[in-house]
Amino acid sequence: MSTTNALLFSSKITGTGSAFPENRLTNEELSQTVETSHNWIVERTGIQNRQISRRGNPNEYNSSLGALAATRALEMAGKKPEEIDQILYATCTPDTLVPSTACWLQKKIGANRAWAMDINAACSGFVFALATADQFIRTGQAKTSLVIGSDVLSAFTNWSDRTSCILFGDGAGAVVVEQTSSHSERRILSSHLSSDGNLWGLFHIPAGGSNQEVTPEIYQKNLHKMQMKGKEMFKSAVLTLTEFAVKALESNQLKISELDWFIPHQANLRIIEAVAKRLDFPMNKVLINIDRFGNTSSATVPSVLDENVRSGRIQPGHTVLLDVFGAGLTFGSLLLRWS
Ligand code: UT7
Repeated sequence: MSTTNALLFSSKITGTGSAFPENRLTNEELSQTVETSHNWIVERTGIQNRQISRRGNPNEYNSSLGALAATRALEMAGKKPEEIDQILYATCTPDTLVPSTACWLQKKIGANRAWAMDINAACSGFVFALATADQFIRTGQAKTSLVIGSDVLSAFTNWSDRTSCILFGDGAGAVVVEQTSSHSERRILSSHLSSDGNLWGLFHIPAGGSNQEVTPEIYQKNLHKMQMKGKEMFKSAVLTLTEFAVKALESNQLKISELDWFIPHQANLRIIEAVAKRLDFPMNKVLINIDRFGNTSSATVPSVLDENVRSGRIQPGHTVLLDVFGAGLTFGSLLLRWS
């Protein structure tokens, strides 16, 4: 594709959707299985509840939650599945290693014209996938993209580790992204992505990939479940979320006071409050769902976006900043003017 084309097009979100499993897991219920309490969890994380997929229930597979969120986003955009050119599915908890969860979703919604692939950037995945869709659309290689962020982290949670099992929930969010003129005011304005593989040890799942088979011994040691260094992760998140928010604003010559809404990744409410304070941004303009759903990994940002588009809080012309961090480590931000 020629570089001239790259100057002709931009992309904008025209539909949003989200979906969560039925089963709610309260702090009280968790405190019956590990040594914790409702008060500790609320004070230290801001989480009240999370929704957990029933393992083995086909309606609550990762791709099923993704398909429901995608169907809702397509309805809002007024698009049929066969009009989609590409499906980018952000997840670190795929249905199966092969085929990709994107292909499972394609089959479920009947998006027969699309090409489909997964993107794994852990909790940053949705912003990485949305930035990728934006690039394909800007170069004219796609007109309509379906971008999903969906994770079933409960399948990889060590339910006997109180420092991590209190944090996570399952869910999915999706957006339809369409081509618009590069002169359009309402579009994706910029994206900044980064990774630091040196920090792999802060959050990882050692076994279950091609390096390490899940033997009975590995299983007993829970090495096929997530291992997290919470305090280090916390510090890194505060620094990088702040850094990438500033990058997005500076590259668009925007002052923080010109931002209408801030949607950060949600791993702990105290991380979000610390970032808002550093940015000097009021908490009442930070959109959250961590209180009700916990950390839903790549689903967090699109599900918060969906909730606030549907409630009418996010209005055409509003400037919205998406800001993420995750295992890898991965970091990124994406600034958009709502369509
Ligand atoms: O995308 C996701 C990546 N993950 C993150 O970003 C996680 C970020 N980190 C965090 O959210 C927090 O560090 C945690 C919630 C994991 C831990 O909170 P904290 O305030 O940093 O607690 P801490 O690790 O400093 O532990 C303080 C105390 C310890 O007890 P002692 O050693 O002081 O006696 C912990 O054992 O709190 C204890 N503790 C708990 N107590 C009750 C840790 N977890 C729990 C718990 N219930 N669930």
